[in-house]
Amino acid sequence: MAERSVLITGACGEIGQALTQALAARDGYRIVTADLAPLPDSIRSLSVEHVQGDLVYRIKQFYDYDFDIIYHLAASLSSKAEVATEEAHRINVEGTMQLLMLAAYRSEKYRKSVKVIFPSSIAVYGMPDLETKRRVGRVKEEEWNTPHTMYGCNKLYCEHLGIYYSRYYGQRHLDPNPPVMLDFRAVRFPGLISAYTVPSGGTSDYGPEMLHAAAQGKPYACFVREDTKISFMAMPDAIKCLLMLTDAPSERLSRRVYNVTAFSITAGEFRDRALRAFPGAKITFEPNLRRQGIVDSWPEDVDDERARRDWGWRPDYDVDRFFEEYFLPEIRKRYGTAEQLPL
Ligand code: SER
Repeated sequence: MAERSVLITGACGEIGQALTQALAARDGYRIVTADLAPLPDSIRSLSVEHVQGDLVYRIKQFYDYDFDIIYHLAASLSSKAEVATEEAHRINVEGTMQLLMLAAYRSEKYRKSVKVIFPSSIAVYGMPDLETKRRVGRVKEEEWNTPHTMYGCNKLYCEHLGIYYSRYYGQRHLDPNPPVMLDFRAVRFPGLISAYTVPSGGTSDYGPEMLHAAAQGKPYACFVREDTKISFMAMPDAIKCLLMLTDAPSERLSRRVYNVTAFSITAGEFRDRALRAFPGAKITFEPNLRRQGIVDSWPEDVDDERARRDWGWRPDYDVDRFFEEYFLPEIRKRYGTAEQLPL
């Protein structure tokens, strides 16, 4: 099979590093990366070219590239976006818009549909209050699309932009000879947890932060209440999910935006599991009202039945396997923390 040309934006982020490694391990991909930062050592040798700088100003450069697939991962996450709203809008919306225009142009001009794979988020949901959040439990894609955050608004709008450019761009879809459109596909990720990297700027960050701190023997003050519940997923499952969605035959897709999830867990359950693995861990709860409000607006869980039915999505790691077979073994190797004894 001919080599496929791929662009990964936000390559230095958590998903970006893991995805670059996974694609490189698969062979058959020519990987170009883009990010504000220089590439970290973990992926430097895997990218044939790295474009460093603000995507919005660098986009012209990409018009000369023949990308088959664009993974648009660059984003300002929910907590950071809330304190720098205008910047978040530029990064999250303008950047996406520029890439969609590029993919739409190339798809039409070369009559070859460019795939744009987009990680959306549970932040597109907005539960009005805790009582409703608890009562509703799992939400379907079309329910509660009333985000409370700048990041959630940006992601929801970009989903719609992606659908627009794939189906209706220029309103020529009914022409006798319609143009070739780009192929936009999105998943709404829950909180992601990697054993190798820690997130920054997000609000689900308390999960991974708590676990990494416990493994390093550092005290951790969790910024949300103990009863705070949302869904999470292991990073290897997130990567599996992006690759499955990329490979899924178009005729199997009944929609362009899918929920995906692995397990739903409270912050208190994270603490209990962290303490079982690292009995010396010092974890306290000191809720930050603003960040608490963000997570309270996200659903407890999402219904990912459509992803399971249409393209066979299924996580490898439920909550037990996540801890026992992924996170704890890997984190112990990383920080060299064998079982810690209580102090
Ligand atoms: N993990 C993201 C955040 O917390 C949500 O998609 O911002």
